[in-house]
Amino acid sequence: MAKKKIGILTGGGDCPGLNAVIRAVVRKGVVFHNYDFVGIYHGWAGLMQMNTVDLTLRDVSGILHRGGTILKTSRTNPLKEKDGMQTIERNIQENGLSALIVVGGEDTLGVAAKLYEAGINCVGVPKTIDNDLSGTDYTFGFDTAVNIATEAIDRVHTTAESHNRVMVVEVMGRHTGWIAVEAGIAGGADMVLVPEKQIDIKTVNDAIIKRHRRGKDFSIVVVAEGAQIMRKPDDEGTLILQDQKTDEFGHVRLGGIGSIVAKEIEKGTGFETRVVILGHVQRGGSPTAFDRVLGTRYGIAAIDLVAKGEFGKMVSLRGNKIVPVPLSEAVAEVKTVDAELIEIAEVFYG
Ligand code: F6P
Repeated sequence: MAKKKIGILTGGGDCPGLNAVIRAVVRKGVVFHNYDFVGIYHGWAGLMQMNTVDLTLRDVSGILHRGGTILKTSRTNPLKEKDGMQTIERNIQENGLSALIVVGGEDTLGVAAKLYEAGINCVGVPKTIDNDLSGTDYTFGFDTAVNIATEAIDRVHTTAESHNRVMVVEVMGRHTGWIAVEAGIAGGADMVLVPEKQIDIKTVNDAIIKRHRRGKDFSIVVVAEGAQIMRKPDDEGTLILQDQKTDEFGHVRLGGIGSIVAKEIEKGTGFETRVVILGHVQRGGSPTAFDRVLGTRYGIAAIDLVAKGEFGKMVSLRGNKIVPVPLSEAVAEVKTVDAELIEIAEVFYG
């Protein structure tokens, strides 16, 4: 009997741990399930153009600790292209792929959910540094981003203290504050601004002034890129964008709120203030041990779902168990930060 051929792609923003997933899928699939693998380059773009490569055990050896993705990635949305769905269906058939493992966030997995509805055998793996995917407690990549941001906050702490300054650290996370809250708690932030619970600038300034009155002469403020600027408590918030462009999934490019917050703090408190925008550093380099293990567990579970013929599912972490959830559930809504976690951060404000 001919061996089954399985396709694998990584889509959306890259994140540490992608290579751990690819390695685990191929290793378990070749050795235990006797599958062949086709790597699809640049996410959905590669499936539209059949830009692919045969993936062997040798190709996935030595990649566990490497950041990025050996398969490259893109934010291509095939459903926006004329006949995109038909092109994908045709290419899958012509290349004899019996299933697709799709590693991505909300957008990439949203396409996988649509393809599954159209009869294509898809299994999803939840990836994003933002941790904003429903259906799973954690996405891989998030832990690495939180660790990078925490280290940055630690470093900023000592220079803030030496200069008696306020330091504002802007982190990624899109429209959620997962990275901000967790790195803020881990790094001992004096205030964390997140989209889930808006705080106006006056309240931020009052808290900093109070802190300095009780003898502290520096402060650390962590700001999520998706938090909004509110000048007064009853203000309607404003999202700060890098430009007016949107990507193929309609997402705006967030960024820049840190600089505005820093200026407002300096103006409102009189304390010298600086800003650090962490940006893509949070997505670069080696994954943490947690993300290597989580990516490996996800990869193994994904190829096992393929072997069982359980399609239309995403592997997810619930408690400490990896379980399948419907792809449709995973992409139904953005997962925002729990109120309890924000309350924990708040204990340390001011
Ligand atoms: O979704 C991951 C993420 O890093 C977000 O936190 C950020 O807003 C966005 O991607 C940046 O996208 P790009 O890589 O296109 O600049």
